[in-house]
Amino acid sequence: MSTVILYGTETGTGELVADAISDVLAAEHDPSIYDMTEFAVEDLNTDDFLVVICSTYGEGELPTGAEPFADELDEVQPDLSGLRFAVFGLGDTVYGDTFNRGGEIMAEKLTALGAVQVGEHGRHDLSSKVKPQAQAKEWAQALTDVIAEG
Ligand SMILES: Cc1cc2nc3c(=O)[nH]c(=O)nc-3n(C[C@H](O)[C@H](O)[C@H](O)COP(=O)(O)O)c2cc1C
Repeated sequence: MSTVILYGTETGTGELVADAISDVLAAEHDPSIYDMTEFAVEDLNTDDFLVVICSTYGEGELPTGAEPFADELDEVQPDLSGLRFAVFGLGDTVYGDTFNRGGEIMAEKLTALGAVQVGEHGRHDLSSKVKPQAQAKEWAQALTDVIAEG
């Protein structure tokens, strides 16, 4: 089993968060990081553990960097039974009801294809005083044991 970190971003925060999560998981899980724009649905391996990082744009929509991968999931409809994944989303509570929808959309798509979400669904709020990398590191620390359970 490998750990694959996939990030979907508009302005790069997601990449910084992916790096921070990778630093924490590296102690036990040897993760690989990919930008969603450079990752094909065919590359998903249901034996892997998938960590999805995704921001939110527009009015509760996916960031540009997540769109091709999300569209490909809709088109290919792969059977993701057996795949375990965790999500850390990025957003801002000033956007009200659409807060952190991007990460939730990705979780819904993967779940609909048979994958199982595990661990806490992380939600960073840009309006909070907490830095995204700091929150992500704490989240990843808790995730370390969840990954090992599989
Ligand atoms: C034009 C614009 C629209 C946004 N829309 C939302 C939104 O609907 N919901 C939300 O939670 N955050 C929204 N955000 C906040 C971003 O998701 C947040 O700033 C995030 O940290 C950006 O991450 P990224 O740099 O990886 O794309 C929006 C930001 C911008 C600039």
